[in-house]
Amino acid sequence: MSTALLEREDCDDREICPQCEESILTTGQVDQDITISGSVIRLRNVQVEECRRCGFRSLSGKEAGLFELMFAPEYSEVGDLIEALRRAGYYGMFLKESQTETSLAFGSQQYVACLEDDLKQLYLDNESYHVLTSLAAAPPQGCPVELNGQLYTVQIPKLGEGENGVVFAYRENEQTVLKIAKPRPYSREHLQEEYAVTRIFDSEGIPVPRIVAADPYGRYMIKERLAGESLARLYSTLGPSEAPLHRLVFEAVARFVARLLDLFGKYPAAKTSISPNNIFVKLGENDCHCLLVDTGPAPCHDYSQFDFSEYWSKVIPQKIERYRAVGYL
Ligand SMILES: Nc1ncnc2c1ncn2[C@@H]1O[C@H](COP(=O)(O)OP(=O)(O)O)[C@@H](O)[C@H]1O
Ligand SMILES: [Mg+2]
Ligand SMILES: [Zn+2]
Repeated sequence: MSTALLEREDCDDREICPQCEESILTTGQVDQDITISGSVIRLRNVQVEECRRCGFRSLSGKEAGLFELMFAPEYSEVGDLIEALRRAGYYGMFLKESQTETSLAFGSQQYVACLEDDLKQLYLDNESYHVLTSLAAAPPQGCPVELNGQLYTVQIPKLGEGENGVVFAYRENEQTVLKIAKPRPYSREHLQEEYAVTRIFDSEGIPVPRIVAADPYGRYMIKERLAGESLARLYSTLGPSEAPLHRLVFEAVARFVARLLDLFGKYPAAKTSISPNNIFVKLGENDCHCLLVDTGPAPCHDYSQFDFSEYWSKVIPQKIERYRAVGYL
């Protein structure tokens, strides 16, 4: 396997490591052998991303430009698809080709189910990469995306973004949002787990958005839209630390975080990232409520030495700076 990792400091598609959330991922290309219909196929130039800080490493089929071809309904059998690719002159399956104009869609669950395991992950990466890059370039009047047989007119720009997903409002229902997982297995698993643990927070009285629908492969989910604003967006508007608004939000977030840490002790599976992107703040006349917008687990986070003052004055500004640097905010 050949690896050539690049620093991505100067690229505009930089990503924060989804595992430690502390470092920018480096990217490279490798040759990857996958087994399809019993035969081993070597894929050239498969993307790989790595975190030099925590060792996170992930293959990604996101550069696979064969989306339209793979999506064509006549290729319901993988064998047929391979034959078609060979006939079309593709000897490496996931080479980037220029994309033709098609409407955006996620493949049906039945379609994904019939893909063999090795191909499945690369296909799923490629699919969400295609949807996300197309949405990033979509015009402000919105962009139709078909998923699970329904059309969603996605509103541009995005509502928000984190290490594992991009979140959009859509025209058909103003009460809900569409969260699309980033193109890597880790992020799809993150959405699957988010779905699984949301009820723990709910049952413990922590306000979280209800999940209305979730893709079994973790590609996307529909969630209730929360009122308020993320702490990441609100933080810079709070004024000096002695200002009443600043004090009010500081106290409310401190109480909320203490409740969360307590709950993580009780339910380790529900340990999430206490990031300013994940905490929503709803300001009233003289009061302030906190909500947890993202329940996706962060098993590698260690809160045993957690210090709220340090979190408030050092960690939050650092995280906001990093979110801005990669375009999440
Ligand atoms: N239910 C929601 N209502 C309103 N905004 C949301 C909602 N879910 C996510 N967002 C916005 O998208 C951002 C990223 O969402 P999040 O679920 O934290 O993604 P990730 O799993 O990548 O961390 C949030 O900080 C917030 O700004
Ligand atoms: Mg988040
Ligand atoms: Zn990392």
